[in-house]
Amino acid sequence: MRLTQRTILLGVCGGIAAYKSALLARALIRAGGSVRVAMTASAQRFITPLTFEALTEQACLTDEDLFHTGGGVSHVEIARTSDLILIAPATATTLARLAGGFADNLLSAVVLASRAPVLVVPSMHTAMWESLPVQRNLGLLDPDRYRMLLPESGALASGDSGPGRFPEVDDIVDAATAALAPQDLAGRSVVVTAGPTREPLDPVRVLTNPSSGRMGIELARAAQIRGARVHLILGPTHLAPPRPLAPDRMVVTRVVTTDDMLRATRAAIADADTLIMAAAPADERPASPVASKIRKEALPATLAMEHTPDILKTLRPELAGRVVVGFAAETTDIETSGRRKLESKGLDLLFANPVDGGRGFGAETNQGVLLARDGSRLDVPPQSKSALADLILERVARLPADR
Ligand code: CTP
Repeated sequence: MRLTQRTILLGVCGGIAAYKSALLARALIRAGGSVRVAMTASAQRFITPLTFEALTEQACLTDEDLFHTGGGVSHVEIARTSDLILIAPATATTLARLAGGFADNLLSAVVLASRAPVLVVPSMHTAMWESLPVQRNLGLLDPDRYRMLLPESGALASGDSGPGRFPEVDDIVDAATAALAPQDLAGRSVVVTAGPTREPLDPVRVLTNPSSGRMGIELARAAQIRGARVHLILGPTHLAPPRPLAPDRMVVTRVVTTDDMLRATRAAIADADTLIMAAAPADERPASPVASKIRKEALPATLAMEHTPDILKTLRPELAGRVVVGFAAETTDIETSGRRKLESKGLDLLFANPVDGGRGFGAETNQGVLLARDGSRLDVPPQSKSALADLILERVARLPADR
């Protein structure tokens, strides 16, 4: 629950994406946030305050609250009690109001009266987005206070296609979390591997494992939120990788085999100070894969196999000075075997976890023991993979890379 005990003022402006703000309000609440909504007058022509009141269980603020307070909440009070002002969608008119320092509606008055960070999520037609006044107004916003999540490129309500789309709700929640999170990985460059790998026998048959990639994806997301530049090397999975919160902050390389993952990881660590090997690469592959489908009758009863490279062991000489974190998927002797892997693979930290009876692989939650090179250990009770990612990254942030 990354937004627990945080009060977010969600400013909704009058664009067609306003209806998506209802889903955003729900997602912020699901992430633990306390959400109040302030609507501009034109936003109320797209969606009603009642929708937000039902979702947030709080009164929806409108310009009535600015002009007829009647002893109710004032813009100064709202400003004082908001940890983050999230304006989504932010329209061209609201951007002009912010850039010009206007206080002629409730939302802009609160922004002026507050010192909280502001996250703007502009959404409009491409021509408006690219227009000189809009771009000039964005340039006038104080970069120390304002953050921006750039619009997505794609199909627009008008039927045109181009930059201007409202981003996915989960990406906006990530950006809001980042605006409030400790930036203890700022300046760090982190490589995360995730998911299984797949070793082909022929074009229709593969050897793989049930890893979903969720743990590594959550680590990549959490590292970006804490300020790192992230390179995610992702094996075959249906789960979507996190989007970049700013250009170049999240690079994703898709791989299939363990050899591919080795090559991609080797290239990525050249520029990185931290490697987190959360992937479950296949340890073996069919010794003689073939290019065309083997007929059922011709399938062998036993398969000749060969080992794939151990990525951590192979790259060990190239990892000097970097912080290296591994995982150990175990069904027996979890801690002893984890400690042995930590040493043999030259790791700073290793999370050893049980992967039997539906635990670990593919699950939403994880549990186990976090082992450190200095001999210390931490029992980790069952928790979401996103909470575990934060716990691991807190430790990574305290391990300075010396390169
Ligand atoms: N790993 C790796 N290269 C491989 C297999 C695993 O770098 N070919 C990494 C994993 O990403 C993980 C760590 O090594 O961080 C331990 O993986 P695990 O599968 O638990 O151990 P193995 O080394 O494969 O040993 P075993 O299967 O015998 O338990």
